[in-house]
Amino acid sequence: MKAPVLPLTDASTITSSVGIALVGFGRWGANHARAAGEADGVRLVGVVEPEEGRRSFASATYDIPCWTNISEAFDHPDVEAVVVATPASTHTEVAQQALLSGRHVLVEKPAATARTEAQRLVDLAEASGLQLSAGHTFLYAQPVRNVAAWIRECAPSRPWVLRSERLGGRRRADCDVLWNLAPHDISLLLYLMDEPIIEVSTRAHVFPGGKRWDTATIDLSFASGARGEIYVAWRHPGAKRSLRVLAEDWTLTYRHGRGSDYLNATRNDGRPLDRDVLFHGCGRDVRGEAAIGYPEPLRVELEEFAKACREMRPTVTGPEHLLAVTAVLAACAQSAEGDGIPVRV
Ligand SMILES: NC(=O)c1ccc[n+]([C@@H]2O[C@H](COP(=O)([O-])OP(=O)(O)OC[C@H]3O[C@@H](n4cnc5c(N)ncnc54)[C@H](O)[C@@H]3O)[C@@H](O)[C@H]2O)c1
Repeated sequence: MKAPVLPLTDASTITSSVGIALVGFGRWGANHARAAGEADGVRLVGVVEPEEGRRSFASATYDIPCWTNISEAFDHPDVEAVVVATPASTHTEVAQQALLSGRHVLVEKPAATARTEAQRLVDLAEASGLQLSAGHTFLYAQPVRNVAAWIRECAPSRPWVLRSERLGGRRRADCDVLWNLAPHDISLLLYLMDEPIIEVSTRAHVFPGGKRWDTATIDLSFASGARGEIYVAWRHPGAKRSLRVLAEDWTLTYRHGRGSDYLNATRNDGRPLDRDVLFHGCGRDVRGEAAIGYPEPLRVELEEFAKACREMRPTVTGPEHLLAVTAVLAACAQSAEGDGIPVRV
């Protein structure tokens, strides 16, 4: 049976706010702090940030404690949950510390960079009765929920190929492009297809002067025989996030942009197609091909995490999803090390 596509949560039903400590106040951490201020059901209790300049910036912006060490956050009685927005190489360690202190955890992608690490986090959360959620933000975007609903409920036939491109962004010192960008694409494809990825083949390259993979091309197979093609690259002029879904008799295009997402589904023979589901909960532009004015995905991610903590049931990017994404990425990395050899997930 297919999993139902979740409507975005109604966070106004959360009776008491979940107190969170934000660990890492870098570029993305600052977005978490702002979104936490706007989200229902969440209260930012304090920030952990080792860099003095960033810490001063956080305390000048928010009237909350800013700590240098995570143990200080654990001493605060109002901290029920931790959002981990530190560099990738520290995610598992920080998330583990937070779980061991008895806090729910929302950990940025990549949640872990090995299957064993991901499993350790999941086991720890389960043993302690805590929520663990990965920051796969795109699954909290209304247009993505709509695309999933459209594929499952309205599409004339099942997808054959899903092609996802994620270009742009800065090189990371501690993480290659595969683990930095592809978690979003893998997460998206798994969610849209609602079936396992069973095999991958990946080619990855380093640009001159680089130390880690700057581009990666992933070919993957779903259990049903459908295929996925992912291309991720840093140092691309202008950010590009696009998804194309091809089927025997229809094509769907989704391009994520700032404040407006291009969305369209067309039948290959030109006959009309019901597209209303694609625009559920969003405004439409005049041509009816762009979704505008939907809730910020990062805010929804925090609200659904808070609801998960209160109701003790996993988010859409909870342990099962986190493990599945990590397993596929680990297989991709193994394949890329072998210059594209097929690897079973
Ligand atoms: N979900 C998304 O769409 C999305 C978007 C951007 C970034 N991210 C993720 O967020 C994470 C942070 O990205 P960023 O761009 O903010 O990086 P960044 O380098 O700008 O910020 C990281 C911050 O963490 C701090 N830090 C380092 N070690 C720490 C520790 N042990 N405890 C507390 N703080 C520590 C650093 O001083 C820095 O201020 C990355 O892992 C990235 O993959 C996710």
